[in-house]
Amino acid sequence: MDGRAEGLTAGPAEPGATAGPGPASRPASDSAYGSGSRLAATIEAARRAEYPGVGEGYLNTATLGLPPARTSAALRRALDAWAAGRPDVSVYEEAVAASRAAYARITGVPVERVALASTVAGAVGLIAAALPDGAEVVVAADDFSSLVQPFAGRGGLDLRIVPLTEVAAAVRASTALVAVSAAQSADGRVADLAAIAAAARHHGARILIDGTQSVGWLPVPADTYDYLVCHGYKWLLTPHGACFLTVREGAEDTLSPAFAGWYSADDPWADCYGPVAHLAPGARRFDTRPAYLSFVGAAASLSLVEEIGVPALHAHDVCLADLFRTGLHALGFSPVPSPHPSAIVSVPDLPPSAPALLTSAHLTFSARASFLRFSFHLHNTEADVARTLTVLEKARTSSG
Ligand SMILES: Cc1ncc(COP(=O)(O)O)c(C=O)c1O
Repeated sequence: MDGRAEGLTAGPAEPGATAGPGPASRPASDSAYGSGSRLAATIEAARRAEYPGVGEGYLNTATLGLPPARTSAALRRALDAWAAGRPDVSVYEEAVAASRAAYARITGVPVERVALASTVAGAVGLIAAALPDGAEVVVAADDFSSLVQPFAGRGGLDLRIVPLTEVAAAVRASTALVAVSAAQSADGRVADLAAIAAAARHHGARILIDGTQSVGWLPVPADTYDYLVCHGYKWLLTPHGACFLTVREGAEDTLSPAFAGWYSADDPWADCYGPVAHLAPGARRFDTRPAYLSFVGAAASLSLVEEIGVPALHAHDVCLADLFRTGLHALGFSPVPSPHPSAIVSVPDLPPSAPALLTSAHLTFSARASFLRFSFHLHNTEADVARTLTVLEKARTSSG
């Protein structure tokens, strides 16, 4: 269940609230990384331009990121043209190319390394299908099902499920692949990616990282891993359906383009009948046909992420999350600790009245496992942290 009765829309702004200056809209940057710093100014300018009067109290990017204004505008233009009988394939294709290139830059790989997918589960299925029978795969307990189920569902694999903190130690000479989310969906814990990568390299195992809960706020260098999969609709602020799979140079041979159709061709528009005569080079041969409108939105959203830069988003998001953590501790609550800073904060054992009180205060959050989960991104400010803590204090008091 997501907060506001599973609603994915931002709660309405408080009466009289505006996106303008003043204490209610003070960005995290004022206190955390220096009032007036260039980074603080960048975040604040982007927030005002892309979320004018929107997003206050929305603490749910871990479920669905809010579209920036430029993304909504690009989607409306494309929808209007389509509805008017003037769908423009060249606009769609340009958006696909721009999205792929931007994602490559954001994750630090050449564009040839990036394949288009439409879901994490589908991209992971491609990887699972290519493993030999009996292959040992190490995953983290309670990781998101789209990363785990393709291995479980394929059958014939030796799937070892271990606590997140033991993933690196669990990799051994017999391990074919280790698959883990950089940040956990349920509670935001950030994996020890350096230790996992080192263990995998040491034992010759391949590494698959799911960046869906991290790429966009956490620097995730794709060339460190054999495969990085990321659905963009959370921290990259894209519509659903814009999903990416990077395949490290040389790792193409570990996969088969069996799930791809005409879009796996070097020139999809010229080679789209019968078996594809010329597969695209690099990872592009694993492309599934992109959902065009999603990529129209993705191109706009990714341009914003690039303009701001992941380091700035990391500083802003983690700063707000840390402020929230500190406030929770002061109230006597115990958020799930993360070994590395995280933009996602999950809190177990909140008073039973907390969800309803948060919802009636127009705060949007989500309930995952036995926690309430709060996440912080570009559109959030310190005011969101303060309001949430005030409501949780009320919940604590009312629970006696
Ligand atoms: C870590 C992680 N991976 C993947 C997904 C989405 O998977 P899919 O693209 O298969 O819907 C989510 C959604 O919450 C997630 O949190």
